[in-house]
Amino acid sequence: MLFAAHIITAYPHMFPGPLGESLSGRALADGLWQLQTHDLRNFGHGKHQNIDDTPAGGGAGMVLRADVAAGALDNVTDNVKGADKLPVILPSPRGQLFSQEMARDWAEADGLIFLCNRFEGVDERFIEARRPLEVSLGDYVLGGGELAAMAMLEAVLRLLPGVMGKAESGTDESFSAANDGLLEYPHYTRPQEWEGRAIPDIVTGGDHEKLAAWRRAEAEALTQKRRPDLWDKLAGKREDEKN
Ligand code: ADE
Repeated sequence: MLFAAHIITAYPHMFPGPLGESLSGRALADGLWQLQTHDLRNFGHGKHQNIDDTPAGGGAGMVLRADVAAGALDNVTDNVKGADKLPVILPSPRGQLFSQEMARDWAEADGLIFLCNRFEGVDERFIEARRPLEVSLGDYVLGGGELAAMAMLEAVLRLLPGVMGKAESGTDESFSAANDGLLEYPHYTRPQEWEGRAIPDIVTGGDHEKLAAWRRAEAEALTQKRRPDLWDKLAGKREDEKN
């Protein structure tokens, strides 16, 4: 089944954007996934096809109307074959944090529907009625969900069968099971010496066991130093596995 990415947005011309380049772009051209944008404005109201309005009760910004969001989403789920089974994602800074685990899960689906919002929020009644998965890229606020959707989608696309060549294989990378969820060890390539810095002897020495142990130690040290939160989580997992 061809992986179908549906993007509901008031800015359909932002897509494929960066997803049309490099690995995901080649995969798109090769027909390994397909992209369909759906213009929110087509579901707007009045002469100006308004999709947002001022917040009830006052406050800053504008709110995406529930009927507009639902009209656009239902149009996809009712009219695209199989789309009613796809995960519906609402990128939002108040969502649960996006993770490699989520990317792996979503790569098993037949596609994804992203509803991108550019305003203060979406009318809560839409969220209650349609139950999209609210997902955040991190604790900062973007101008809209489009770049977040692209980032999440890129993380998923590179995991689809055939998208990543052997040369770019992701089995050993940060957060991967093969790497026990650790950050990645340091990498080197030619030249052997650059600005007086040589590649560590252990990397080029040819002792594969020693190198694997060194890489493991580096990955652990890096994770402990940079991501104590991740290190503690992994330590908890190791404890659970022992018990
Ligand atoms: N929209 C605005 N900010 C966002 C964030 N941090 N993550 C996902 N979607 C967003």
